[in-house]
Amino acid sequence: MTNLTHKSVSIDALWEFGSDFHYLPEFMTEITRELPWQDGNLYSTGRGALIELIEFLERNCEFKKDQSVIWIPAYTCYELAKPLVENNYRVAFYDGSPSSDWNLPDKLFSKGDIWILCNYFGSVVPGRETTKTAQDYGVIVIEDHSHAPLGVLSRNSNADYCFASLRKTLPLADGGILWSPAERPLPSSKTERYDPSRRVAAMLGKKQYLENGTFSKEIYRQWLTEAEEHLGNNIHLNISEFSKRILTNLNYSQWNEIRIRNSNILAENIRNNSSFKIIKNLIPDDAMGIVLHFCNQEMRDTFRDYLINLKIYTAVLWPLHPSVGFDLYPSASDFRSKMVFLPTDARYSIVDIKIVSEAISHFVGEND
Ligand SMILES: Cc1ncc(COP(=O)(O)O)c(C=O)c1O
Repeated sequence: MTNLTHKSVSIDALWEFGSDFHYLPEFMTEITRELPWQDGNLYSTGRGALIELIEFLERNCEFKKDQSVIWIPAYTCYELAKPLVENNYRVAFYDGSPSSDWNLPDKLFSKGDIWILCNYFGSVVPGRETTKTAQDYGVIVIEDHSHAPLGVLSRNSNADYCFASLRKTLPLADGGILWSPAERPLPSSKTERYDPSRRVAAMLGKKQYLENGTFSKEIYRQWLTEAEEHLGNNIHLNISEFSKRILTNLNYSQWNEIRIRNSNILAENIRNNSSFKIIKNLIPDDAMGIVLHFCNQEMRDTFRDYLINLKIYTAVLWPLHPSVGFDLYPSASDFRSKMVFLPTDARYSIVDIKIVSEAISHFVGEND
């Protein structure tokens, strides 16, 4: 921290920014509320929600595993495609990304195919304007709202089905949701609930580390890794009771207001420059965080390394899986190699956000 001139803030030795949620009981209320996804089904993961749906469509003869294709945007989390590939579904990619100027590639689809679209950062669902054409053609349209499960784009969907991972934007141990804006039938919910103990222990350990350093960072990180692996082996289950209670009793207005405030402060305090541009979120209130687009990958990586030294952990969404092939999908590979994501969720105070903006301004000053 010594090379930064923080005028108004001092950085605690335990301070850090980014990465997995710790346990955040301060956002709990005593009021239990209805979940906003009417008649939706909860699962342990977003992947589980998707694969349960596809198996259900198959059982109902609406999707034919050996004939029809599941189209996935080349720019998304490969973890989503993995269980489908492993279960021998016919998965194919199309050049979908936030920067693709993209029309429905109707020659690509056949009747009975599944077309997955992605809501990127709560800002845009590329290709969505052709949903009806695809549906009329006999394609099943599924949207992934993991980046803003409660946002405008999620609420206004015309897709046949929507799903989301809930643990990416909410402080849960596990969680995925499946619903149908078109009110189509859903699979029946799973009876067995996920056991979240590993992640709950890790979330508690991280909280204690951040608060007073009396828990080892190595241990909670190890527990997080184990928890992720355990969840990856149990994607199909019902959501844990722990996460369900947080989901029903979270103070959403507080959670959202702080995120919106943080996103606004961060966006106002960093400026476009020769190294990067801030990607404008088209729906500012739904911004999952701040996305920066760099002039090239080298500068992006230099920036990330610089912030890691300050314990500011940015995310790169998403590493490409070798089987997808870099060259085939130019807009997706260009975006993933030059972007950085900065979280702004409600675990962060104004002071935290100011530390991050000062660190970024310092980098810009050195590199502009
Ligand atoms: C956009 C998107 N969709 C789906 C998933 C899968 O979520 P889960 O890990 O809950 O299965 C992820 C995971 O990172 C994601 O980023």
